[in-house]
Amino acid sequence: MNTAIIVAAGKGTRFGGEVPKQFLELAGKPVLFHTIDRFENCDAVDRIILVLPPSMSGTFKEKLPEYGLKKIAKIVSGGKTRAHSVANGLRAVDRDAVSIVGVHDGARPLVTCEDITKVFEAAHAFGAACLTAPVNDTIKLVSDGMIVKTVDRKDLRRALTPQCFEFHVLENAIKNADLSGAATDECYLVEQTGVDIAFVEGSARNIKITTPEDLKFAEMILKQEQN
Ligand code: CTP
Ligand code: MG
Repeated sequence: MNTAIIVAAGKGTRFGGEVPKQFLELAGKPVLFHTIDRFENCDAVDRIILVLPPSMSGTFKEKLPEYGLKKIAKIVSGGKTRAHSVANGLRAVDRDAVSIVGVHDGARPLVTCEDITKVFEAAHAFGAACLTAPVNDTIKLVSDGMIVKTVDRKDLRRALTPQCFEFHVLENAIKNADLSGAATDECYLVEQTGVDIAFVEGSARNIKITTPEDLKFAEMILKQEQN
């Protein structure tokens, strides 16, 4: 069984504003609902664990029947860091039923079922897998205001989500991690435990809403998809 943990408990500091970015409207509904729908409508995913800000999880739970979402197995509160939020989500996973657990950013509403399926399948085959996108710009290593050198971009990938793992692989990584640290993805935590992680080439359209420009860009992509 494949379980997706959608983490949506962040504050969206870089985006700014009162309401965290994942609850802002994108083409008629909150960003997070786009994200959930992508998983709800993808056969590769059996269950969803939703991680929300502590102040919102109760309200959302009450409203869940109205939304008609079938796959949400549990809603839990997030923590101070992303890693804490993932740890809380992982504790809510039914460990006897799950095989692969995939962590996805609530702020990535444009992920396709094709990419979700590919990365879950790769985790079944390799134990751990990350959805990635190529780096298209020339990349420079810099220091003290000066360019040190050019890094060969063919060996670089941008880490997207979902990132998928056999349950025990992620559980072990989280058990051994400093959850208060600077980890911004799960692969980093799993890398620390020495487990090999396969990468899967995904669509560059699977952007993370980080700044207000990203929200406008996402709106454009959605419009194009609908036409
Ligand atoms: N996230 C979370 N719990 C946290 C921090 C982040 O669940 N304590 C989630 C966010 O809600 C988001 C995803 O992790 O869906 C990716 O994180 P990011 O884009 O960094 O979102 P924020 O941390 O909210 O934004 P910022 O770093 O600008 O504050
Ligand atoms: Mg963050």
